[in-house]
Amino acid sequence: MILSIESSCDDSSIAVTEIATKKILYHKKISQEAEHSCYGGVVPELASRLHAVALPKILEETKPYFDRLKAVAVTNQPGLGVTLLEGIAMAKTLAVLQKIPLIPVHHLKGHIYSLFIEKPTHFPMLILLISGGHTMVLKVESFEKMEILATSMDDSVGESFDKTAKMMGLGYPGGPIIEQLALKGDENRFDLPVPLRNSKLIAFSLSGLKNAVRLVVESLGGAEKMCEQDKADLAASFQKAVKLHLLQKSKKIFKAEPIKDFAIVGGASANLYIRSAYENLCKEFGKRMHVAPLKYCSDNAAMIGRYALDAYERETFVDPNEIDIVSTKKQQTGMML
Ligand code: KG4
Ligand code: ZN
Repeated sequence: MILSIESSCDDSSIAVTEIATKKILYHKKISQEAEHSCYGGVVPELASRLHAVALPKILEETKPYFDRLKAVAVTNQPGLGVTLLEGIAMAKTLAVLQKIPLIPVHHLKGHIYSLFIEKPTHFPMLILLISGGHTMVLKVESFEKMEILATSMDDSVGESFDKTAKMMGLGYPGGPIIEQLALKGDENRFDLPVPLRNSKLIAFSLSGLKNAVRLVVESLGGAEKMCEQDKADLAASFQKAVKLHLLQKSKKIFKAEPIKDFAIVGGASANLYIRSAYENLCKEFGKRMHVAPLKYCSDNAAMIGRYALDAYERETFVDPNEIDIVSTKKQQTGMML
């Protein structure tokens, strides 16, 4: 069995996965959303303290598996430095005490492997990764070969939902709140700009759209003066602009890349409005679409464990004295993940 730990942002999660069957035997996640909600975003030091409380509590429940563990896996990049360290300290200790190998896991690769948790899927695949920290399209040919085809120039998709919700005085995380509110709104009421519409660049940018949302909020007298319908209409108009932006750039990639399988992963892939738009796009281009079950879209240790199974086969281990964190860094198009 492999025990996996995830603490890159505001979810403390541990899973135990069986190597022979690839089945998850144990999985638990404690989210900190309620604690961060009043700040409209994640406060790193608070997140770190909450991990320090939650992770040992969850670990306690995995004790029955301890003597059958063959490896321990942990997210070591990218993420918040102070929260990554919480998971790493725990993983290092376990690896040393149990005398088992330590597997470092790239969080974004974990999201990609969320597709494999419940069903056998295979590469090559084109993947749209939309989370709180990243927006990118990847060409994934194998465990070793993952190329970034397009990436974000500024705010990620999840971040833009979070900031839009914050500007309207709604809670955190903004994604699910905006998606639900948008169901009651008129997506054509506000004519928000579709980012990079007239640009040949195959990249994503959402900071201009965020600014356009801010101007609408101000023109309506601020969040306090907006009625429920104003908020719903703005949420829907914003979500529509995000969708059009993603689709426009994805179309260009679809035209250039013949790979038949396409997937959306990451926290924002839980958005059913965006999913359904991509289902139509895939039909148009004759591609097969894949998504992870909703419970594995946002951060979780099951996806880290699933990646670790493949890493274990390849023995991509690291010395517990050498493992380090790599906090968020800008990723460039053409780079291998
Ligand atoms: O993957 P994730 O759990 O954490 C990171 O790796 O960043 O993604 C969290 C992000 C948050 O920004 C959240 O607002 C967004 O995913 N999100 C959504 C939805 N559910 C979560 N965004 C849009 N629509 C959703 N339904
Ligand atoms: Zn994530």
